[in-house]
Order: sequence, then structure tokens, then C-alpha cells
Amino acid sequence: MNYVTDDTMNAYLRSVQPMYDGVLGEIQKEAIAAEVPIVPPEVARLLSVLLTMQKPKNILEIGTAVAFSAGLMCRYLPEEGTVTTIDRYEVMLKDARVNIKRMGLEDKIKILEGDAADILQTLEGPYDVIFMDAAKGQYQAFLPHCLRLLPVGGLLIVDDVLQGGTIAQTRFSVPRRQRTIHKRLRNFLWEITHHDALETSIIPIGDGVALCYKKKEIIPETKTEGETKNAE
Ligand SMILES: C[S@@+](CC[C@H](N)C(=O)[O-])C[C@H]1O[C@@H](n2cnc3c(N)ncnc32)[C@H](O)[C@@H]1O
Repeated sequence: MNYVTDDTMNAYLRSVQPMYDGVLGEIQKEAIAAEVPIVPPEVARLLSVLLTMQKPKNILEIGTAVAFSAGLMCRYLPEEGTVTTIDRYEVMLKDARVNIKRMGLEDKIKILEGDAADILQTLEGPYDVIFMDAAKGQYQAFLPHCLRLLPVGGLLIVDDVLQGGTIAQTRFSVPRRQRTIHKRLRNFLWEITHHDALETSIIPIGDGVALCYKKKEIIPETKTEGETKNAE
């Protein structure tokens, strides 16, 4: 796992912020020990604060893994609230199902199995919070769906946006195999920071977290009469 912050800072942050209690805390410790890529503890705490403030009813997550963050997010839902979570990796989902049962959250967490690129198109929402924590190279492709599924006042939280800090380096100073992802993430970050309907902040903790608040409706572009005629 890559981090923007150094080992000393990570160790310090983890020493001042307690791990979660109950079965959720056990799942967190097991996942860390097994090197399952769940959100780092300091990002989990950021999620807790954001969800306490946002008070979502329905949450969408892209990237379930073993259902640690899905279980965490359930703590901030009202009685009737739900987390819908997408993952394409059956091996992870097997553990996720076991963990959801351990937490007694079978009625709160709905797993959608498959590629988010296909599933997102079928969803109608709205989701007050969307937590995107999946393949970074696809974030830009997922973005229009997330923006469609978020109501005005909704919050998009995106994990792992800074590639261990290498995003700040020039394209040619990162290893060749990382250049495509580097370019895609930079394009994604440019889009969310320049989007007219979003108020965005990029926070350098964990591997970088982007927060995008949807402040107004997104009006689909309409074609002028000339453009319509030319297209005919
Ligand atoms: C970083 S892990 C998610 C961790 C989880 N949110 C947590 O903190 O507990 C990323 C997950 O996204 C899934 N994933 C990556 N790309 C995906 C895609 N295009 N569609 C569905 N799932 C995807 C992977 O299988 C993996 O389980």
C-alpha cells in the first residue's frame, strides 16, 4: 500500500486514533494483518467524521473488498438507511459476505457483484454519499455516473488519488509502467477540481482522499439548432 505521509506520521496518527471497537474492529485488524487493501485507519476516521456531518440515508460504495468500510459506514446510517456496495472480485466477496453476517448487517448492506463500469449504468440512486475506492484508472469513467447518482448536497469521497505522492512528480520521473495511471489520475483530479457543479478538496492523508460536494444540478449540454442540423 502506498502512502502520501511518511511512516513516522502514519505511526503517530494510528497511535492517537483508536481502532474501531466490536466485530468491526476485529475485521479491521484481520484485514490489516492479511494485507487486504482496506482504507487505512486515518482515512477510516475521516470517513467517520464526514458521515457524522453528512447524515446520509443511502450510500453507494465502489470497491467492497472484505466489507470493512461498508460495515463502518453503516454505523452512521439511520434505521432505514442502506449501503449498496459493488465489487467484481469473487474471492473478496466471499469474505465480505461472511463479515457482513458477523456484523449482523445482512439487512443494511447490499452487494452488487460485477464490474462497476457495467453496474453503475443500471443504478438510479439517489445516493447521498458515494465512496469510490476501486481501480484508480477507471475513476474518470465512473465520474459521470457518480455525478448523476448524487443529489445536490451529496458528497463524493474518492480514495487513493495521489499514487503514494508520485502524482506530484513529472510524468517522466515515474516508472514507465505507472505512466498511464499517473496520466489518468491527473486528468481525473483536473476534472473534479474544475467542475462547475463541484466544490472539491484533495487531502494528503493515506494515499490521498478527494472530497467533492455537489453544490448544484448538472444541466446536460443542449445542442444549438445549427449543431443539430449538421448532425442530421
Ligand atoms: C481498495 S479495495 C476496497 C477496500 C474497501 N473499500 C475497504 O476500505 O474496506 C478495492 C476493491 O475494488 C474492487 N474493484 C476494483 N475495480 C473494480 C471495478 N471496476 N468494479 C468492481 N470492483 C472493482 C477490487 O476487487 C477490490 O476489492
